[in-house]
Amino acid sequence: MKNTVLTFAQAKKEGTKISMLTAYDYSTAKLINDAGVNSILVGDSLGNVMLGYEDTISVTMEDMIHHARAVSRGAKDAMVVVDMPFMSYQTSTYDAVVNAGRIMKEGRANAVKLEGGRTIAPTIKAIVDAGIPVCAHIGLTPQSINAFGGHKVQGKSIEAAKKLIDDALAVQEAGAFTVVIEAVPAKLASLITQKLDIPTIGIGAGSGCDGQVLVYQDMVGMFSDFTPKFVKKFANVGETMKAAFKQYDEEVKAGTFPEECHTYAIDDEIIEKLY
Ligand code: KIV
Repeated sequence: MKNTVLTFAQAKKEGTKISMLTAYDYSTAKLINDAGVNSILVGDSLGNVMLGYEDTISVTMEDMIHHARAVSRGAKDAMVVVDMPFMSYQTSTYDAVVNAGRIMKEGRANAVKLEGGRTIAPTIKAIVDAGIPVCAHIGLTPQSINAFGGHKVQGKSIEAAKKLIDDALAVQEAGAFTVVIEAVPAKLASLITQKLDIPTIGIGAGSGCDGQVLVYQDMVGMFSDFTPKFVKKFANVGETMKAAFKQYDEEVKAGTFPEECHTYAIDDEIIEKLY
């Protein structure tokens, strides 16, 4: 059964946890979907893990739509949430609604995600008013990496913690159906979770959140440029892939691949007539 905004609301009501992972292509989306994960986030982290940028700033609407289309074809049951890239919603409310609409129509998303708290709340409201579900994202918001001066844990001082609580309440009031909380002390994220009626999805925010999200390449051990403290490696697929690529290289060069079982037959008589 398709996971929807109602699944998220029900989970919050019943106290059951929500699982979310990123994906950027059809095959991975299908695997994640078939594993029973509730939601797939087509994150703008694709800039890092798929395109090799050092941050998410250069990711475009076209990048997001291209990957969203592939993921939505593989996510039969999982709810597909798609990130709005940097500068696709900060310029004006009009731009935000138009671009959110493109992500839904062209990317076949089920919801969009925007970074920011109280300052972005009017934009969230406008998108929600257009009939588009919004996942908010507060705490460490990677599109503001230049303003933060790096990947820093958020909400550690009393002022910063109060601001985060205010941000969470503002995005809920604006109509967001869920909120991602990134790189925030676990006790603060738990407190925010208790104060909200909408579910919180944590990444580096402890187990007190209503759900969790991770970048899939991080959790299967496929991405080694940098690994945040909050990542648990559930597998080491990168090493397995590298070993397979190495063996392929060796067998091709030694002439031991392909073997007869990998080839197509033809009658010898036909071949003889060709000499
Ligand atoms: O872009 C992304 O993958 C994200 C998650 C890290 C929450 O925003």
